[in-house]
Order: sequence, then structure tokens, then C-alpha cells
Amino acid sequence: MLLELAGSRRILFFGGKGGVGKTTVSAATAVAMAETGKRVLLVSTDPAHNLGHLFGREIGPSPVKLAEGLDGLELDPDRTVDQHLEEVTAALRRMMPAHLGSEIDKHISLSRDAPGMQEAAMLERIAEVVELKREYDLIVFDTAPSGHTARLMALPEMMSAWTEGLIRQREKADSFSAVLQSLSRDSSVGEKAFGDEPARQDEDRNSRIRRLLNRRKQRFAGLRETIADRRQTAFVIVLAAERLPVLETIELNAQLLRAGVDVAALVVNKRLPEGLQGFLAERKAQEEIHLATLHEQLAHIPRKDLTLAAHDVLGVNALRAFAAEF
Ligand SMILES: Nc1ncnc2c1ncn2[C@@H]1O[C@H](COP(=O)(O)OP(=O)(O)OP(=O)(O)O)[C@@H](O)[C@H]1O
Ligand SMILES: [Mg+2]
Repeated sequence: MLLELAGSRRILFFGGKGGVGKTTVSAATAVAMAETGKRVLLVSTDPAHNLGHLFGREIGPSPVKLAEGLDGLELDPDRTVDQHLEEVTAALRRMMPAHLGSEIDKHISLSRDAPGMQEAAMLERIAEVVELKREYDLIVFDTAPSGHTARLMALPEMMSAWTEGLIRQREKADSFSAVLQSLSRDSSVGEKAFGDEPARQDEDRNSRIRRLLNRRKQRFAGLRETIADRRQTAFVIVLAAERLPVLETIELNAQLLRAGVDVAALVVNKRLPEGLQGFLAERKAQEEIHLATLHEQLAHIPRKDLTLAAHDVLGVNALRAFAAEF
């Protein structure tokens, strides 16, 4: 069922709680799809970089070959934030008067730790991968362990609040310099570059800055459209048959729905096999109780259960064997 889903889309997202098997399931899907002859790119957006571990090799921010037809890359949020802020700073410096340089720096350094900044930068890289990596038939995203993917969907709006904050700050700084200018007419402090029509030039500059930042916003909106488009993209939630993963799955599904994204499949991983006795049989009964809760809420979403393997799933061969169950 998972492979049929993968065969019918260009983009797959795997999300879910920590440790449930997102990396393993997404990598196994990617390996299996590459074996059907598709060109597949496996992308990790998780700072913990588990893909490299799984394939036993270094994987960086540019694609490396993991198997025939399969490339992998790991997006690094810190690096991505740095790169993103450098780009924004450079663009703003080009557009703002020189005396506001320190305001820009202040705003940017506050932004570095602002809530959502890492996600915003990551989202931009995800959008780039989706837009630019056209040579792949399938792109599989292994996401970080949190609902962050759902939050990402609300970012276009957040980015515009950020833009407005920056512009307001600039206006404040400008009126301060106007006061200084009127105090000292010969002014070395004032803003001569503004000439006779400061108000109109301000407006021009503001609208140029808005345009720049809106480009980013549009890119996010475009990505959101692609993700919400069921013909192109499928979102898969991976979970374990335990109380919290089940509750979080129900919540994540609701968040994604609010953001306009349908969940295409649920993967219940690490299920105990049949025919157990004693303690393990009790655990298995417990799984059924939690899955009944899942069924009550999300019976309409196709579900695939995967069995807990006796050994860790490591390397291409183990992933291929694991995917036989898909
Ligand atoms: N069906 C399975 N049978 C046995 N072991 C499994 C199975 N699925 C995953 N594992 C193991 O469970 C561990 C966690 O899996 P994985 O790294 O894929 O989870 P994750 O959801 O990506 O975790 P994180 O949230 O930390 O990124 C790994 O050691 C993996 O080998
Ligand atoms: Mg992982």
C-alpha cells in the first residue's frame, strides 16, 4: 500500500513522534521505489541526521548516491538559518540607508532566535528542493520528530508579520533621524540621500523591501499549495501502537487539516507479531486498545501496520527486506 502511494506521487512527507520509525520507513520506501526504476531523492530535515547513520556514510547538504537510483541529502537547520539570514541581511543592506545598518543587524540577530526562524529557513530549503530537483521522479522527506511540519504550513503568514516588524522598526529609526536633522540643519547625522521627497522615497523603499520579503512568502505559499495538492504530494504519519503516539497522531492530523493538508496514510510501526504468550501477549492486547482509539478518530485514513523486527534495520539490504512488508 505504501509503495502504491509512493508510485502515484512526486513528493512524500513522513512525519510523527520521536523514535517511531520515520527515518527507517521513509528510507525503506525510498530504497524500494528506486528499485522499481524511479530516480529517488531522500531528504532529511532532521538536525539529528539519522540518515547518515542508517546508510553508514556521510551525507551532507548536497545529494550523494546511496544506491542505484537513490540519492540522499541532509538539510541542516543551523546552517540553513545562517545562510537565510545572510541573504536577507545582504538584501536589506542594499536597500536601506547606511545609517540603519546597526538596526538591521539588531533585527536580524533577534530574528535568529525568534520562534519559527529555524522552521522558516528549513521551509525555504524544502521549497528549493521541491522546485529545483526536477530530475527526480520521487522526493521523500524524512522530517524531524515534532509537529513542526504542520507549523511550517502556517509560516507564510508569520513571515509577513516579520516583514511588517522590520519595516516599522525602520520607520521609527527614520523619524528619529528626521528629528536629529531638524535640530542640526547642516547635519552630518541627517539623511541627505533622501533628498527633497523623503516620504515618497520611503514609500518606494518600503515597497521594494516588501516585494523582496513577499517573494519569500510567495515561495512558501507555493510550497504549501504543492503539499496540499493530493495529485503531487502525500503526507504519511508514522506512529507506534502506544498511547501518546496515537494521541499525537490525532492532533497532528487535525493540525494538518487546518493547514489544508490531507494525511494520505498512517503507518503503525513496530507492531508485535502474532502468537505471543504471557507478558508479550498482554502488550499486544494493549496495542489493540490504543489502535481502537486511533480507529475511532481516523478510520477514514488508510492504515498500514509494520511488524517489529527482531533486529535493528540498518543498511540498504535490511531496508530492502523491511520494505517487502510495504
Ligand atoms: N519495524 C521495526 N523493527 C525493529 N526496529 C525498528 C523498526 N522500525 C524502526 N526500528 C528501529 O527503531 C529505532 C528508531 O527508528 P527511526 O530512527 O527510524 O525513528 P525516527 O522516528 O526516525 O526517530 P527520530 O524521531 O529520532 O528521528 C531505530 O533503531 C530503528 O532501527
Ligand atoms: Mg529520524
